[in-house]
Amino acid sequence: MTTDLDQLRTDLLASIDAAGSLDALDAVRVHALGKQGAVTGLLKTLGAMSPEERQATGPRIHSLREAVTEAIAARKATMERDALDARLAGETLDMTLPVDLPATGGVHPVSQVMDELAEIFADLGFAVATGPEIEDDWHNFSALNIPETHPARAMHDTFYVEPNTTDREIVDKWWNGPNMVLRTHTSPVQIRAMKAAGGTKPVRIIAPGRTYRSDSDATHTPMFHQVEGLVIDKGITMGHLKWTLETFLKAFFERDDIVLRLRPSYFPFTEPSAEVDVGFSIVNGKRVIGGAEGWMEVLGSGMVHRKVIAAGGYDPDEWQGFAFGCGIDRLAMLKYGMDDLRAFFDGDLRWLKHYGFGALDVPTLSGGVGA
Ligand code: DAH
Repeated sequence: MTTDLDQLRTDLLASIDAAGSLDALDAVRVHALGKQGAVTGLLKTLGAMSPEERQATGPRIHSLREAVTEAIAARKATMERDALDARLAGETLDMTLPVDLPATGGVHPVSQVMDELAEIFADLGFAVATGPEIEDDWHNFSALNIPETHPARAMHDTFYVEPNTTDREIVDKWWNGPNMVLRTHTSPVQIRAMKAAGGTKPVRIIAPGRTYRSDSDATHTPMFHQVEGLVIDKGITMGHLKWTLETFLKAFFERDDIVLRLRPSYFPFTEPSAEVDVGFSIVNGKRVIGGAEGWMEVLGSGMVHRKVIAAGGYDPDEWQGFAFGCGIDRLAMLKYGMDDLRAFFDGDLRWLKHYGFGALDVPTLSGGVGA
């Protein structure tokens, strides 16, 4: 009996150790501890033993059962932990590895130009500001020195926004509030940026974004893009304006032979106002920016009107500034050579493939802002 029990213990522990899978381990468990199992069989023999025999053998059989039970539990825990470790190791994903899939999709020329503008003006210390596309008429007109009776309001071919309901309560509330328009230019962001700066700090922002006018032909679409520029500080002159525009246009068109001509003009929100022409030359029958064979108007600009400075919450006796506004779509056409603005917004994949930019080609001043 002694040797039988010792032998059985050794055999069982060896099989537990050798079990290569949870199924194999369970088979050992059934073989030892199941209803017909070897250890169970031994326990059953206790009943037929004499008390002395039972006292001598009983504890040894019980200890055998305990040892086998524990060994199975321990082996099972090890196997489960190993399986989990293997799974975790197999599922590891190194997020730092380079992606070798080709980049699909492309960047629209308008987005590309906006990125280029942000890059160029960031280098000059300008932040990017934004404002809502559905704007109230105070920000879009009145605060910019365009009062209700001003002819410029009519000139802008404004889209007015009305509630799309007959619910009297909503309609009444709507008409008691400010008139809402789709912003006709990015200039209202001037007011928002000044207000945000609180009337005490200098402001240096550009505001690229969508604008809307009821107009449509080869060079006009009802939705188009502008970029606004605004500097508010002390001691600002037109010299700062001209230097900034020249530096911007040289960086944007990536040419040193950019010549500017400031022509006296009128905008309600600037005094004095200037329209900015850029010199172009004719290359293979096409107009190319640079040189001075002819002049092309690209920008509106001027010194911020006292009333606009005041509407923005600044004291016009202390603070001056300059502003400019420019069509982004037009800039893209001049730089990248498209000649029909309407194609910009048709969503034709062939056009986008031809004029689009690589998704991962981010414009930088050192690498070249153009792609
Ligand atoms: N808001 C003008 C427009 O849409 C463009 C403009 C002209 C903006 C002169 C300016 C500016 O900031 O100073 O036609």
